[in-house]
Amino acid sequence: MNHLELKTLEPEQRLLMGPGPVNVYPAVLRAMSLPMLGQFDPQFTGYMDEVMALYRQVYRTRNQWTFLVNGTARAGIEACLSSMISPGDRVLVPIFGRFGHLLTEIARRCQAEVINIETEWGTVFEPEQIADAIRTHQPRFVALVHGDTSTTMAQPLDEIGPLCREAGTVVYVDATATLGGMPIEVDKWCLDAVTAGLQKCLSGPPGSSPLTINDRVAEIVNARKHVEAGIRSEDSSDADGVIVQSNYFDLAMLMDYWSSKRLNHHTEATSMLYAAHTCAQEVLREGLEAGFARHRITSQALRAGLTAMNLKLFGNERYRMDNVTGVFIPNALGDGEQVRKQLLDDFGLEIGTSFGPLRGKIWRIGTMGYVCHKANILRCLSALEIVMRRNGFAAPPGAGVDAAYKVYNQ
Ligand SMILES: Cc1ncc(COP(=O)(O)O)c(C=O)c1O
Repeated sequence: MNHLELKTLEPEQRLLMGPGPVNVYPAVLRAMSLPMLGQFDPQFTGYMDEVMALYRQVYRTRNQWTFLVNGTARAGIEACLSSMISPGDRVLVPIFGRFGHLLTEIARRCQAEVINIETEWGTVFEPEQIADAIRTHQPRFVALVHGDTSTTMAQPLDEIGPLCREAGTVVYVDATATLGGMPIEVDKWCLDAVTAGLQKCLSGPPGSSPLTINDRVAEIVNARKHVEAGIRSEDSSDADGVIVQSNYFDLAMLMDYWSSKRLNHHTEATSMLYAAHTCAQEVLREGLEAGFARHRITSQALRAGLTAMNLKLFGNERYRMDNVTGVFIPNALGDGEQVRKQLLDDFGLEIGTSFGPLRGKIWRIGTMGYVCHKANILRCLSALEIVMRRNGFAAPPGAGVDAAYKVYNQ
């Protein structure tokens, strides 16, 4: 029998400048090493309430039902979609990148009748296109992505939410990649359900999904409420709606767990809750607007630097996300993988590859959360210049860094 060598994990220190995960706030790492508490310990339930209050601020909402789902960002997506969509419901999913396909796939698994509209990767939808599709198809739900990291484009939502509200359609938004990095106004923009993950602009580890749903969504979900035998009280009765397929992601039961009833469901992931709590505190301590401004200027500096290095940026510039930039890989560098490998091996710096139609065509460079600072941009531009030159693409020496400095000095 092979003898398994028992070794302590010693991950390298990397600078994570891809589309997420990114480096975690030191305070979050510390919080994750705090002692376990029992899930009904008043101190712990107090922390749960604090998490709800913190994420109401991050999401800019008064929604009571603002809490965590354990699991990565797609756990929040699945919790919302599988609890909201009953079999046969019509769902409009506008697709402008990989994650619109993911919403489509999850909605199909919920046995929705999915209607897609698509726009080329690198572009987004005009509100009128969504309004037209709603008029034509009369969906019960619209599900769409805010910032799609696969294309680095952000879909403006300030007009789409209100037009869905007016049409009587309930709107779900995947804000995984933008929460904390770009403005999201849940109440002002009439967004009914929104989910995120920790590992992007909130700079936590993947594994917890903060979500918020308003009373309209809570009503839809509660109309399907079936409490697990074994924990239900004698006077509880099942709602008329179709039972939610997933027990783990059943928002009606999760609401009971996160309410003062504290009706047991899963065991809340204690260390991830500490992490999520601390991420929100870090973001709010800086101030949401100050954080958005930091993301904006840092991505401007990165883009100025890349352009000065004779690289071409990807996508419609009006709709670029403030926290991840797509840049075409010069022909001389093939599919760009050798450059990514050398950045990682020689500089400890990770940038992102791409999916689907953009695979081997663009790199994606993230400026998310804790990573989004001048020093990291300057490091990234200098390392990229050197590695590209070693692989046959000579950018004007120092031009990238100079252009980034110029943005900061303006
Ligand atoms: C917009 C968007 N949605 C969903 C996801 C899926 O997140 P996770 O891998 O945490 O499940 C990602 C991850 O990159 C994303 O960028």
